[in-house]
Amino acid sequence: MSRPDWIVIGSGVIGLSAAWALAQAGQRVAVVEAGRIGEGTSPKAAGMLLPEVESVHHPELAPMARESLAMYPSWVKTLEELTGQDVGYGPIGCLALSEEASFAKTWPGLAQVPFADLSRVQSGLSSDLAGCYLPEGAQVDPPRLMAALAAACRTVGVSLRENAPVTEIRRVADRWLGITAGGERLVGGHYLLATGAWTANLTPELDVDLGIFPVKGQMAELTAPHDALGAILFGPGVYLSQKNDGRVLLGATSERVGFDLTVSEEAVADLVRRASRLLAAVADWTIQRTWAGLRPGRDGLPVIEAISQNALAAVGHYRNGILLAPLTASRLTELAEQIA
Ligand code: GLY
Repeated sequence: MSRPDWIVIGSGVIGLSAAWALAQAGQRVAVVEAGRIGEGTSPKAAGMLLPEVESVHHPELAPMARESLAMYPSWVKTLEELTGQDVGYGPIGCLALSEEASFAKTWPGLAQVPFADLSRVQSGLSSDLAGCYLPEGAQVDPPRLMAALAAACRTVGVSLRENAPVTEIRRVADRWLGITAGGERLVGGHYLLATGAWTANLTPELDVDLGIFPVKGQMAELTAPHDALGAILFGPGVYLSQKNDGRVLLGATSERVGFDLTVSEEAVADLVRRASRLLAAVADWTIQRTWAGLRPGRDGLPVIEAISQNALAAVGHYRNGILLAPLTASRLTELAEQIA
């Protein structure tokens, strides 16, 4: 590609969603990725789209989370039609659960419903639970979503370059002149920083600290009977989400331990224990595999803004990169028009 209009740094759900949107808006876009395209944190996520749950302790997140969820059906439809790939999107609802005595503290602001109503959604729940049913809760299947986004990018002519970590950002005053990625000097008209948790490592190259830190999440995939879950189950320090192919994702720890991706048996056993307190049957399900991902943590809302005359940043989506992707891509295309 001759000089791209945009160089997107990072190929997570934010980078690829933005690259696709910018290319659809007529821009020539190149993506550079330190590892493999779309294989960083995003496909390791649970793919739950739960504005109400995720904003219980962060009310400032609620408006953008709800707006992005509302964009999901048409965003997914366009993506699936373009690529012919199913991303496992479905509004399946969520039960926010805890022991009766701690419900109000665990889920402030959520309205408790009678246990019989919970049981209608999910059989086999522990009888000492209290809960709230959130029918608007939805999900996608993150590996499928990432595969489709990469395919969409290719279809609309985005150039995808992997194994190209950024080691230098050349600047004059408030303007980026170019970057070095994978040892190659690249020049674009504009730049988008979508580097997730790894933004923390780029801080010396940026002239601004965006306040990003990695937050490790350990997870497991369980084999369960098909239709074992009637909704996403979300309890204190644990959630369970069953995908269309039947696999159940069990998550997740939340640990500030730097760039550590090790998985411990104790952490996974603790997740299984917490999940079994919600639904005893979980103890009988087989653990297929385990992994850890690094959320791009930030105190406060994500940064979606200009960080120089010709560079935007979209980082710090913390627990909600997948949920916030459609809204972020849309805001970025608006910002891109403003700095064009
Ligand atoms: N969005 C769920 C998590 O980050 O664990």
